[in-house]
Amino acid sequence: MAVNLLAIESSCDDTSASVLQDGNILSNVVANQDVHQLYGGVVPEVASRAHQENILPVVDAALKKAGISKKELDAIAFTRGPGLIGSLIVGVSFAKGLALSLNIPLIQVNHMDAHVLAHFAEDPKPDFPFLCLTVSGGHTQIARVDAPDNMTILGKTIDDAAGEAFDKTGKLLGLPYPAGPIIDKNSKLGSALFNFPKPKVGELDFSFSGLKTSIRYFLQKEREKNINFIEENMNDICRSVQDRIVSILMDKLETAADQTGIKEVAIAGGVSANNALRASIKEVGEKKGWNTYIPAFQYCTDNAGMIAVAGYFKYLNKDFVGQDVAASARI
Ligand code: KG4
Ligand code: ZN
Repeated sequence: MAVNLLAIESSCDDTSASVLQDGNILSNVVANQDVHQLYGGVVPEVASRAHQENILPVVDAALKKAGISKKELDAIAFTRGPGLIGSLIVGVSFAKGLALSLNIPLIQVNHMDAHVLAHFAEDPKPDFPFLCLTVSGGHTQIARVDAPDNMTILGKTIDDAAGEAFDKTGKLLGLPYPAGPIIDKNSKLGSALFNFPKPKVGELDFSFSGLKTSIRYFLQKEREKNINFIEENMNDICRSVQDRIVSILMDKLETAADQTGIKEVAIAGGVSANNALRASIKEVGEKKGWNTYIPAFQYCTDNAGMIAVAGYFKYLNKDFVGQDVAASARI
């Protein structure tokens, strides 16, 4: 008998549901919340309410697309954290209610682990141990992954996440939220004419707040000379900032690979959708003799497919949780 697993992700501003059968993803439905663009960032209260509206239709769509009825489900995996507590509670409560009514087991998944395990959604899959640079709107870390349930964080950001560096730069440039994809697009038409500093932090740690400050001062100074500086140089500014963020990330990843001797190297998380980062890991990987792994776009940004994949590893180990499980903002 096939094993059918439903997964639910609601940690930030995307409501997502996925159905996985025997380890293969049959559907991965994501409802984005464009409403946050009005505010230039995610508003937690608004996000929770949108999740409440979206969750039922999103789960329904995922089941329909997979051609599976809810009675055929064998388990439900959900994101327990980390994330926005109000957003998490919507997904966790929904998963608990549905699992109770169907009398099937519940599987808790850590959102960050799931970003890493997204690499097992499709071929080619990395061999263990592998290194994974996970870069999203909330996190930036390099992990050594020895098994699905055995990850060691080698380095992480001491302030802003890489995605935040993109989004906050976008705000300074007057771009809508989330600015990462727009900066990526503009960069293709620009050159890295402006030089921004590299932070000095621990060997495998990251810092992006100094970069943000230097961009702010740079723009202020240039706009005093030419009030239209941003508009006239948009693509070049984007390209300069993007190149710097990518070089900061790649330097640390290279150091981690050198130190550990691991040649299986992966990137994950929303920022791994960035074209320059994707090109850079391939280029550096060729030079260094790495096997590199980049998830398909749909498994980079927040999605329930990655929760399903992570949940299935736990399903095979019968690693279930009871109805007393609660959402946790900082697992
Ligand atoms: O993983 P994700 O969807 O959500 C979190 O868990 O945070 O990541 C969202 C982040 C945002 O900061 C967004 O600007 C960034 O990923 N992002 C990108 C690109 N696509 C998404 N950053 C740079 N280039 C992109 N193409
Ligand atoms: Zn994420």
